[in-house]
Amino acid sequence: MSESQATWSADGSNIPDINPHTKAKHQILDTYLENLIYTLYGKGRYGETTFTFVDGFCGGGMYYDQDNKREWEGSPIRLIEAIRAGYKKSKRQYDLNVKFIFIDNKREHLACLKNYSMPKAGLGELVNGQPHEFKGEVGKLVEECEFIYGEFENLVNEVIFKIDIRKGHSFFFLDPFGWTDVSMQSIRKINDLKRTEILYTYMIDFIKRFVIGKYGKEKDTFNRILEAEEYYKFNNFNSFETTGGKCYLRNESMRLFRDKGKAKYVFTFSMIPRGNVSVLYYLMHLSQKLTALEVIKESFWQKNNLDYQYYFELYGHGFKTADFYEENQLELKFDITKNSEEFCLEKLDTHLGNIIRNNQDGIIFHDLCHQTMERNPASKEHYTTYINLLRNEKEIEIWRKGEIVKERKVDLRKSDIIKLTKYKQLSIF
Ligand SMILES: C[S@@+](CC[C@H](N)C(=O)[O-])C[C@H]1O[C@@H](n2cnc3c(N)ncnc32)[C@H](O)[C@@H]1O
Repeated sequence: MSESQATWSADGSNIPDINPHTKAKHQILDTYLENLIYTLYGKGRYGETTFTFVDGFCGGGMYYDQDNKREWEGSPIRLIEAIRAGYKKSKRQYDLNVKFIFIDNKREHLACLKNYSMPKAGLGELVNGQPHEFKGEVGKLVEECEFIYGEFENLVNEVIFKIDIRKGHSFFFLDPFGWTDVSMQSIRKINDLKRTEILYTYMIDFIKRFVIGKYGKEKDTFNRILEAEEYYKFNNFNSFETTGGKCYLRNESMRLFRDKGKAKYVFTFSMIPRGNVSVLYYLMHLSQKLTALEVIKESFWQKNNLDYQYYFELYGHGFKTADFYEENQLELKFDITKNSEEFCLEKLDTHLGNIIRNNQDGIIFHDLCHQTMERNPASKEHYTTYINLLRNEKEIEIWRKGEIVKERKVDLRKSDIIKLTKYKQLSIF
């Protein structure tokens, strides 16, 4: 069964097969949420202790993996397990309070999740909706699950209200089948929460149908739901397949969610399934804080299998199924063997290097990240490596609390100031 028709029976006797790009999406979710908990709760002097995770299109919780002949857990179960992993890694002395809200508009899917998938995954104690203590070695983790039947759009206000009362950090995983189920207005409302993030499956492939003009009514609906009237101004169908067209599509999507969705930072992961030459959907990460962008980039980097030398400009990070290159021999004329890390540092030299060299009085590390993070594939670790490289070359020095940092390798902090060295400044004049 294809994912687009995924259905679950209430007793779990019928569950859908999993496909490679959904697996990749799940693995990104695992890595990201574990890192998120570790970053926000596990690090720093006193971490965040209250979280709400909303799976707005949760499904039945279990798939079947034909390749490995065993079951494969769906997003609601992965959410719970990733938070447990992040909590264990954090080893904090104080408690962590987590609420999960699972929404689906099919009763059988929710029934499958509660009666079949969660018990099967060893999470049966969470289906009664009561707070449950998960005992770690140190502080305890208090988990609570709420299951809501209904249309996401009709429930979004209620969910936001609940989060507002609970306070803390929230995360929305929005994974609908199509583009009509989440409005830009809802995205905006969620982003008003400030300490929130959204990971959204944005079906971009359908846009092609609009530009050839056959689907006038759908186009109007699209523009209304996603407020996209002023975006995606393609003249003809062919322009989608050009290099410029692919870049434009991604940039327009980021611009749309940044402007209309009121997301401060937007980053994409492109899903290119078997047989497709272009992106079926973007996994879009929308956030209000630079830290969230840094953490998602690390998770995207780990799962990315596109070569950056050529592909980053087109797709950002992404995942293609195995036969992609064989079917697209033309693309091979580009040097795709170049090491991704090397390319990444080269890109940083353009983006960061120019800014640093143009700021004679220095630039605060946080400002540098804010200006550049959405425009290159690099993780914070790459930024650190690059800036240390400049420092070893004696091109820059790093200032902290009014003094030059002397450590051999500097682990950069937000407020650190990166300054051109006096020697280099003199040589410029
Ligand atoms: C792609 S599946 C979700 C898969 C799940 N996120 C996972 O990764 O395991 C989409 C789910 O959304 C539900 N759904 C579709 N439209 C919806 C809507 N408007 N509101 C809430 N749920 C909806 C479907 O019943 C289906 O279970």
